[in-house]
Amino acid sequence: MENNREQWSSKASFILAAAGSAVGLGNIWKFPYIAGENGGAAFLFIYLICIVLIGLPILNIEILLGRTTKKNPVGAFKTLTNNPFWKYVGALGVLASFTILSFYSVVGGWSLAYTYEALVGTFNTPAFANPSTAGDFFNLRNSSPLWVLGYHTLFLSIVVFILLSGVRAGLEKASKFLMPILLFILMILVVQGLILPDANKGVSFLFQPDWSKINGQTFLLALGHAFFTLSLGMGAMMTYGSYLSDKDDIVNASYLVAFLDTVIAILAGVAIFTVVFSSGYDPTAGPGLVFHVLPPLLSNLVGGYIFAFLFFLLLSIAAVTSGISILEVSVAYLVDERKMSRKKAVLMMAGLVYLGSYSMCIVIQCSF
Ligand code: TRP
Repeated sequence: MENNREQWSSKASFILAAAGSAVGLGNIWKFPYIAGENGGAAFLFIYLICIVLIGLPILNIEILLGRTTKKNPVGAFKTLTNNPFWKYVGALGVLASFTILSFYSVVGGWSLAYTYEALVGTFNTPAFANPSTAGDFFNLRNSSPLWVLGYHTLFLSIVVFILLSGVRAGLEKASKFLMPILLFILMILVVQGLILPDANKGVSFLFQPDWSKINGQTFLLALGHAFFTLSLGMGAMMTYGSYLSDKDDIVNASYLVAFLDTVIAILAGVAIFTVVFSSGYDPTAGPGLVFHVLPPLLSNLVGGYIFAFLFFLLLSIAAVTSGISILEVSVAYLVDERKMSRKKAVLMMAGLVYLGSYSMCIVIQCSF
């Protein structure tokens, strides 16, 4: 055991940090629109099965592998077996951390940008008169490299700033500060959504199953999302687990993380669909739901200025607390295996992600 390895100050801190990793764009940006497009509650049902039967056991195993070896994914497999094959499985995790963050930080940048636009009142201008004009505004902004790269740089800088401070002063402190704010904002948005006229239509859209939409593809989508939303399969939870002390029990912790993650995704769905239905709009709007449809609908509500701002702040917080966990995988690898200083590792990886995002910007823009 390396005794100079940092550790979470308590199990509760780990739970908050792991929940911060799990609750991200996947919950607020992706879950509502894939649930919407794939049969509402019917999708939710399949998704819950995937979480319980596949996600939870893997979450437990990842955290356990980290806690046992006190290593990054590559080092963990090196410690556990002499078979070099597994080392490469760990290395795939490090590679995935770089790839995922390359697109994640672009969407994180959009979230920060829209938090700012909400704050300065852009959503109350004619550009946001309806989802179609709002979509044009989004596309126009996105065609400006300066805008996309500027906010993307801001997002990555926040991630870098947190990671440079280390596990306790960085990851832990950020999650302890940001997660309660996230929960508080979500509660406000859910309550305001539920008191809107026709809110019940939005709720039943999420909870009433449309089984006709279910096919083989739906299962794959639900399974893929279960992995993504619990931050599984690339060593993020393993890395967070490696900062746990041996005496911390992990089974309860992973139940709690999976529970929080699922509840927050459902609540985000309620907050979003109540607004969409009460404004009489199409709920199956795809990835543009959050950036095209919601800004005008939110800002048309009574008190809409504040709700729109809170919504994008929520999205930004969720993106930051997940973004740090994604980059931490490769940082831990460079620190443990390449004996780099944390500072050098963070700056180098962030630099690589920054370059990778250039191409991602183009890909995401084209698929939007
Ligand atoms: N779980 C996060 C979300 O729902 C994304 C995320 C964070 C992630 N860390 C990860 C996804 C590691 C895969 C692997 O948005």
